[in-house]
Amino acid sequence: MKLILTARPLETQAKVAWIIFVQDKKPLLSGSTGLAKQIGSQIKKTGFSGDYAQTLVFQTGTGDIVLAGLGDRKHFRMEYLERAASAAVRAGKKAGVKTFAVSTAAGIGKVSDAAFVHAVARGAAWGTYSFDTFKTGTKKRGAELSLTFAGPCENPAACRKALTEAELESRALLATADLANLPGNEATPQKISSWAQKMSKENKLAFSVLSKADLKKKSCNAILAVAAGSTQDARIITLKYKGTNPKAKPVVIIGKTITFDSGGISLKPGKGMEWMRYDKSGGMAVLAAMQMVALLKPATPVIGMLAVAENMPGGRATRPGDIVKSHAGKTIEILNTDAEGRLVLADALSLALQHKPAAIVDLATLTGAVVTALGHTAAAVVGNNHKLNATLVKTADAAGERLWELPLWPENMDDMKGTFADLQNISKSGTAGTINGAAFLANFVPEDIPWAHLDIAGTAWEESSKPWMDPGVTLFGARTLIEWIVKI
Ligand code: BES
Ligand code: ZN
Ligand code: ZN
Repeated sequence: MKLILTARPLETQAKVAWIIFVQDKKPLLSGSTGLAKQIGSQIKKTGFSGDYAQTLVFQTGTGDIVLAGLGDRKHFRMEYLERAASAAVRAGKKAGVKTFAVSTAAGIGKVSDAAFVHAVARGAAWGTYSFDTFKTGTKKRGAELSLTFAGPCENPAACRKALTEAELESRALLATADLANLPGNEATPQKISSWAQKMSKENKLAFSVLSKADLKKKSCNAILAVAAGSTQDARIITLKYKGTNPKAKPVVIIGKTITFDSGGISLKPGKGMEWMRYDKSGGMAVLAAMQMVALLKPATPVIGMLAVAENMPGGRATRPGDIVKSHAGKTIEILNTDAEGRLVLADALSLALQHKPAAIVDLATLTGAVVTALGHTAAAVVGNNHKLNATLVKTADAAGERLWELPLWPENMDDMKGTFADLQNISKSGTAGTINGAAFLANFVPEDIPWAHLDIAGTAWEESSKPWMDPGVTLFGARTLIEWIVKI
């Protein structure tokens, strides 16, 4: 989608569809567009609820109008604005609109014009996306669409910067979505590795990969145990961005990248198993964030790592009860082969320490329990440093995502201690699944390195059509990561 900024007011934008946001059932109109009455009567006539991401497209004498609901002012979140913008573009596109315009002035409570431009532009670009790689005969249409931000901005330089950032971030998100939406037979560990290599080359990131033989040499037996039952070899991929301040310590972001999670010998039930194509979502968010980093060039050095494997129940598969020694030297009793995410992350986390990180953030579709705790509304953040957790929660709010902190207590650490080995990969109590997953991981990070684990199992994909997107990956986490990294 082409994104344009002009100081000329919205009224001068003829033959385009105007996107007008609606809050508390009232259109947010800047200037005297004289439209308020018309819109008001349309809202009355159609019973348009104005709920967030609800849309209404109608024609006027001067052009089309796309109303996009934001819900009520009391519950406003940036997430709603970004999704409402996606929904507006999707609804307009369905009605045949190609050129959109929106007023640059936010007019929403404390939201600056620049923050508004950023969220709306990124949301609009996401609204053009559809995963149609396997729909024969369909062509990507997003490039034909445009959105103009019209009218003065309270800080023009900030608005220009926000628009550029949104454009670059969207480029990374849409490119990665095409990989992240691929099913297990397509997005193999091999394919993900070559995709990451090509992306690194195009964006001047350093790329390296540990093969199965390398992982053996380094005694990364936890990740190797996960891939043992698959014909696909495991890999740990590393992407490096130097930073404009190369003396600074890097932050390391790590993604669980299980290309398909059958559960292994602890086989998952058949119903819904196809969703486990998205068990690579942590790694996909890291890839998107690394591309954003390469395009936005922040000061902080950033290292992205993907722990890639396929979890299958083949003849060489790991059995429940097997004991392996991790890269860190700690032994692990694998009591359930379906708790594989923490195994691949254990080795990646201890490998990450060689970079002397200022902080580590990992993202993983780790537990079904996080869906029980938080639904599909927020991801959990659990870690060894409350300050980092709190920063990430706040950053997510601004970045159009939602995180909620869960505790990590000594009792949870005890729950993961093994009977015949140092650790076991499922808890003894069978309770607090999301916290216990994090408690297992905490054993692989020294206490003096701030570390946060994001359990994105409930937020990484949509299973049904939403006003702001088709079913598929959300790339949840990438937006928070980039917002966090540029502000360090
Ligand atoms: N990939 C799954 C977690 C998952 C479940 C993600 C549902 C998205 C939706 C993970 O590898 C897993 O199977 N976790 C187990 C852990 C348990 C065996 C301790 C789970 O959550 O049931
Ligand atoms: Zn699993
Ligand atoms: Zn999994």
